[in-house]
Amino acid sequence: MSYVDLHCHLLPGVDDGAETMADAVAHARRLHAEGVRDVACTSHVKRADFPGVAIEQLAGLVVATQRAIAADGLAVRLHVGGELAHADALVLGHDALEAIALGPPSARWLLLECPFEGVDDDFVAAADRLTRFGYGLLIAHPERSPGLLEGDGLERLEPLLREGALLQVNVCSLLGNHGLDVQDAAVRLVRAGLAACVASDGHPGTREHTLQLGFHLLLRAGASSGQAYRLTQANPRLLLRNGIVRALPPAEPAGAFDPASMHVSAGRLGSELLARQ
Ligand SMILES: [Fe+2]
Repeated sequence: MSYVDLHCHLLPGVDDGAETMADAVAHARRLHAEGVRDVACTSHVKRADFPGVAIEQLAGLVVATQRAIAADGLAVRLHVGGELAHADALVLGHDALEAIALGPPSARWLLLECPFEGVDDDFVAAADRLTRFGYGLLIAHPERSPGLLEGDGLERLEPLLREGALLQVNVCSLLGNHGLDVQDAAVRLVRAGLAACVASDGHPGTREHTLQLGFHLLLRAGASSGQAYRLTQANPRLLLRNGIVRALPPAEPAGAFDPASMHVSAGRLGSELLARQ
């Protein structure tokens, strides 16, 4: 077992994640013990809520945190990233975006936070802007966005998915920590094959579960062991190593999007990921 967590607020003292380096190392011990070997450090890049986050300092903080983890004898590799709010995605320049992008130079991608207010015009405009800049998109916790499945949220995301954007579901959502509606949406995304990966969205001190729990929750949600493996290990590893190709071939013939058919296009996305192994 070697889990890859693409969404974790491990860096100390910058957002609502780890408060101190000791807290970060303590969480790294948990990650190590539960088989998580790669972690993207995705502090909030959301100036409205965390104005103190300095993007240009994140890489240095990752280096310092990696040193502290290594000094503790832990085999957890850290990667520089960020959880980008759509309001900031509308205004940040190339250097700032590149500082939090993941993946190889030919297929860089960004973790874009799906709004808690629902998928709106501003979010779509932000995603379009990042796509125009050449970035692939991993959309964080869409299941927590109101109206995703019951409203038009998923329908509004569909053009982005057709261009290669992928969806990331949270462990805490599968656990039910955000309510039954969010849990139901998370399970339905997984069962439909629309989730490309699951991540912890870990916040040391307040949300400390890891992908090991996510793996078991996926099985409880009806995933096969193979799908659970892909969502927690193979796919996130591929995204780190190979990145996200911005414009995948259309998964479905052009035409009106039918949410009832989402399992078909999702299966195609999953095949694309596995085909790159
Ligand atoms: Fe997060």
